[in-house]
Amino acid sequence: MKNDLHFLFQKLTHGVYVIGVSCNGENNAFTASWVMQVSFTPLLLALSIHPDHSSYKMLIDGGVFSVNVLPKERLDLAEHFGLPVNTDKLAGLAWHQGKTTVPVLDDAIAFFECKFSHECEAGDHRLVIGRVVSGAVRDPQALPMNYRDTGAMDGSSSLFPEDFI
Ligand SMILES: Cc1cc2nc3c(=O)[nH]c(=O)nc-3n(C[C@H](O)[C@H](O)[C@H](O)COP(=O)(O)O)c2cc1C
Repeated sequence: MKNDLHFLFQKLTHGVYVIGVSCNGENNAFTASWVMQVSFTPLLLALSIHPDHSSYKMLIDGGVFSVNVLPKERLDLAEHFGLPVNTDKLAGLAWHQGKTTVPVLDDAIAFFECKFSHECEAGDHRLVIGRVVSGAVRDPQALPMNYRDTGAMDGSSSLFPEDFI
């Protein structure tokens, strides 16, 4: 049954993004697939983030985050930013600080900059809502990565419960 739930939830479609955070002059970034637009007016994005991630506290304290859309072929970036923060994940990569100070990856095909609006509990994650204050398409021809392109990279199959609870 466990595998059945994993296969069931794999039928939901998601993109793959690198979320940049910045606080008190420090920067970090992590891979996330649970990102979606949730309002037109104002323009709002929602991000589901595990509160144990080091990026969570930086996001809440810094009050800003970026959403970097990865090109389909850059699985290396999805894997790299999916690692825990025991090193400077941004070191050696091309990035710059956006208008809100958050890291924006030069390899992103598009990016959004958001100001933290509010958050709510969502089971073992936190749903963070951000107001989009800036952003641009960098490469109109490039195809965005889909979550299914990442295969078993995030190891999430073991996180599903045995059954519906
Ligand atoms: C493809 C992929 C998708 C992921 N999606 C999410 C997500 O939507 N939300 C989340 O909290 N973590 C997600 N993760 C896990 C984080 O990227 C990972 O735990 C990372 O180490 C957190 O980094 P940090 O501790 O530097 O903040 C994903 C990882 C991968 C590889």
